[in-house]
Amino acid sequence: MSLRPYIVGNWKMHGTRAMLAEARAIDRAGQRHPKVEVALAPPFTLIHATRKEAEQIGVGAQDCHPADGGAHTGDVSAAMLADAGAGFVIVGHSERRNDHGETNELVRSKAESARKVGLGVILCVGESEAERDAGRAEEVVCAQLEASLPMNQGAVEKLSIAYEPVWAIGTGRVPSLEDIEAMHRAIRERLVATYGEEGAEVRILYGGSVKPDNAAEILNVPEVDGALVGGASLTAESFYGIILAASGENAD
Ligand code: 13P
Repeated sequence: MSLRPYIVGNWKMHGTRAMLAEARAIDRAGQRHPKVEVALAPPFTLIHATRKEAEQIGVGAQDCHPADGGAHTGDVSAAMLADAGAGFVIVGHSERRNDHGETNELVRSKAESARKVGLGVILCVGESEAERDAGRAEEVVCAQLEASLPMNQGAVEKLSIAYEPVWAIGTGRVPSLEDIEAMHRAIRERLVATYGEEGAEVRILYGGSVKPDNAAEILNVPEVDGALVGGASLTAESFYGIILAASGENAD
């Protein structure tokens, strides 16, 4: 685990203003554990309010359009996200790749547009269950990665990768710790091959059924620098259990 683990909550399509109380409580938890970098990605509609309510944690978005602006009904540009108070954006989540047919090329252009306006990027990659069963997990993930990494100026700064096996998302199933380590090492190799020495600094997060009771062992796997958390980030109580595990401290 890196010196300052990065624990990010992805609220997906959950949350109305009533959930700002959870965001405030998560912010307080983040303040109590400054050795952990905590962030939340609420839906677009809550970014501005979450940024205003939270003093310490990072606030980001779950997607952006690659263009600077224009005739794209219903879409949101990276510059708009920054203006709303976002500091980073998640791109290439498997739910976007599957629900919206997002290609690696599109994901790369989204990541590049985000870096252009100074947003951090969390780029998601992950194999399906059939691909893992066929012994192709590493090949698939590395091909996704190589084709979707941002390549514009400053791309590698503020870039994180999230390895999220599709079959582990929302299922309660997680890969073995050995499989997580092997995949993170393979991702690290590709990052260094692409970006040189700077690739060694990119954080690699694990995502997929991270819960308070498995967070410590997953976060202790070599090359795991943090976690991207879905369901267990929706309440401050369960997210706190993961923040605490990342802090390496005991419950207070
Ligand atoms: P769960 O933690 O609910 O499995 O979701 C993981 C995820 O998709 C985070 O982006």
